Order: sequence, then structure tokens, then C-alpha cells
Amino acid sequence: MGSRFLALSGWVLIVAFLVVGLSGETCNAKDDGTKCTSSCGNIHNISYPFRLKHDPKHCGNVMYTLSCENNITLVVDLPPSGKYYVQAINYDNQTIRVVDPGIQKNNCSSMPQNPPFLIAPYSAYNRSGYLLSTPVFYIKCSNPVNSSLYVDTAPCLNINASSLVQQKTYSYVKVGVMEVGDLNEGCSAEWVALVLFNYSKGYNTFYESIHSALMYGFELGVYWPDEIPPICQGQWSSNLKCFPHTIPVH
Ligand SMILES: *[C@@H]1O[C@H](CO)[C@@H](O)[C@H](O)[C@H]1NC(C)=O
Ligand SMILES: *[C@@H]1O[C@H](CO)[C@@H](O)[C@H](O)[C@H]1NC(C)=O
Ligand SMILES: *[C@@H]1O[C@H](CO)[C@@H](O)[C@H](O)[C@H]1NC(C)=O
Ligand SMILES: *[C@@H]1O[C@H](CO)[C@@H](O)[C@H](O)[C@H]1NC(C)=O
Ligand SMILES: *[C@@H]1O[C@H](CO)[C@@H](O)[C@H](O)[C@H]1NC(C)=O
Ligand SMILES: *[C@@H]1O[C@H](CO)[C@@H](O)[C@H](O)[C@H]1NC(C)=O
Ligand SMILES: *[C@@H]1O[C@H](CO)[C@@H](O)[C@H](O)[C@H]1NC(C)=O
Ligand SMILES: *[C@@H]1O[C@H](CO)[C@@H](O)[C@H](O)[C@H]1NC(C)=O
Repeated sequence: MGSRFLALSGWVLIVAFLVVGLSGETCNAKDDGTKCTSSCGNIHNISYPFRLKHDPKHCGNVMYTLSCENNITLVVDLPPSGKYYVQAINYDNQTIRVVDPGIQKNNCSSMPQNPPFLIAPYSAYNRSGYLLSTPVFYIKCSNPVNSSLYVDTAPCLNINASSLVQQKTYSYVKVGVMEVGDLNEGCSAEWVALVLFNYSKGYNTFYESIHSALMYGFELGVYWPDEIPPICQGQWSSNLKCFPHTIPVH
């Protein structure tokens, strides 16, 4: 597992960047694009601005192209994060629910594999700047920790040092935003994933239920084509609307 871990620097974990090089082809005739409806697996209402890869060109908007793998699994590719399985598309509140492909059903040793870095038109935040989903931090400690904030991941995950020196490490998750003092001495945050429940500080549970939540997936906000600030298109931007997004430390 260690090699998949993202090395985190400092306290601030960047979860979501908005916006890099958006395609220039965003000005397709909207009138035509709204008329198509496609289907993939259980998701029957794939319509504007979404489209499937092999849909006619006039359907949807190229920025929102999804693919249908094996005619069953709807997949959204979110570089630089990776591919996610789409579980639901909600047009009313403009969200999609996605699952990390690393998570396997009934195998609590399976881990999310994508770092949740996101770019427009997708965001981990809603339009008021609130996280739509709850972060889950994977933490590795050199000593056992007895804390109400930490959920022991054993026996699902045991991050043993893979060197010849068999140094045992202890693996935990912490649900919710990381605050100063939440990381015990000898512990480091190794990875972050997103889930859809709102556990608050102090909540404790079994890792299996967190794995179930990972299996259910998390929500991403989707900005419609006319909502993406023009300043963000085709370039990095430090404009607040395009480039806010770190998990708050406090
Ligand atoms: C499908 O989505 C469109 C909007 O994109 C909506 O007007 C329509 O009611 C939806 N149909 C179903 C069956 O949900
Ligand atoms: C995909 O599924 C649809 C509906 O079940 C079916 O009509 C179509 O032939 C399938 N396509 C492929 C490539 O399997
Ligand atoms: C969006 O709508 C879906 C379906 O109604 C719902 O399950 C989900 O909680 C909603 N998300 C938000 C952020 O309102
Ligand atoms: C469960 O997931 C782990 C980690 O991805 C993997 O090594 C193991 O082979 C999986 N077990 C089964 C039964 O698929
Ligand atoms: C964003 O989420 C917050 C907290 O759940 C909520 O109060 C707010 O109304 C949401 N804003 C939008 C635009 O959905
Ligand atoms: C952890 O701490 C609680 C309360 O401080 C205590 O009741 C419990 O026995 C401790 N568990 C272990 C394994 O040390
Ligand atoms: C981790 O190390 C402990 C003690 O050295 C060992 O019992 C356990 O099987 C190891 N776990 C894994 C997943 O290698
Ligand atoms: C989710 O958060 C709301 C508002 O903070 C709270 O009322 C509700 O009980 C929470 N739900 C769970 C399952 O923790």
C-alpha cells in the first residue's frame, strides 16, 4: 500500500484544484446538444451537458464526456485525479456521485487509488464553498494510538514497513477535516479519500462502515458550461472563483 500513498506536505492538504486547460470547443450549439439522451448500465438519463464518448458530436458538451465501459459502467475521467465510476447524476442539484475504482465490494483491504485533485467543471465544493463530501484521512503511526478521533483499520489495513527491518506501523483513519493537534506524534497522514456521510469530530466507528461509505461513493459538484468563469478557461488562475480549494485546517 505504501507506494500508492501520496506524500503530504505540512498541514494543508490540497483536495481540489479547479481548472486547467479547458477545451476550446465549448461553444457547440447548445440547442442541438440538449436533445440527446443516452444510457449506460443503471444510468438511463445521460443528457445535456453530459454525453457519451460515442454519441453524435452534437450531443451534450465535450467537456462533460463520459464513457461506458462494457456497456455497464459509466466512467468519468477526471485528470489529474483519474477515472471514477459514476453512480448517479443529479441534474437538479448539479452533482454526480462517484466511486473510486480502487474500492472493491466486500474487500475492506481495498483502498481508494485516486488522489482527489479535481479540475473544472467538477468540484469537491458546492457553490457556497462547502465541501460536498467528508474527507477521510489515512494515518500511519509508529506507536499505537488510543484516540476517539482515530478509527483502527485493523484487520483490514496493516501498513507494515516493507523493509528488511520489520518495523511495525499502526494504521488508522480519521474522519472529517484535519485540525491542528489531530495528528499525534509519530503519526503521518498518508492519503485522503472522500465519503458522503458527515461524521463530526469525536465520532468513532468501525473501519468496515467507512469502507461501506467509500463503496457508496461521494458527491462532486458540476458546473454547467455557462457557469464556468471565462477567466478560468484555458489557464491556471488565482481568481478565487477558480482556485480556492484546500481543506481548511481549522
Ligand atoms: C432527465 O434529465 C433531464 C434534464 O437533463 C430532465 O428534464 C428529465 O426530466 C430527466 N428524466 C428523468 C427520467 O429523470
Ligand atoms: C448495450 O446494451 C444495450 C441495452 O441493453 C444493447 O441494446 C446494446 O446492444 C449493448 N451494446 C453492446 C455493445 O453490448
Ligand atoms: C442531490 O440530489 C440527490 C438526489 O436527489 C441527493 O441524494 C443528494 O443528497 C443531493 N446532493 C446535494 C448536495 O444536495
Ligand atoms: C483485497 O484488496 C487487496 C488490496 O487491493 C488485494 O491485495 C487483495 O487481493 C484483495 N482481495 C481479494 C479477495 O480480492
Ligand atoms: C452549500 O452547502 C452548505 C452546507 O451544507 C449549505 O448551507 C449551502 O446552502 C450550500 N450552497 C449551495 C449553493 O448549495
Ligand atoms: C483507550 O482510552 C480509553 C479512555 O481513555 C480507555 O477506557 C481504554 O481502555 C483505552 N484502550 C486501550 C486499548 O488502551
Ligand atoms: C505486520 O506485521 C505483524 C508483526 O510483525 C505481522 O503479524 C502481520 O502479519 C503483518 N501484516 C502484514 C499485512 O504484513
Ligand atoms: C449531519 O449534519 C447535520 C448538520 O450538522 C446534523 O444535523 C446531522 O445529524 C448529521 N448527520 C449525521 C448522520 O451525522
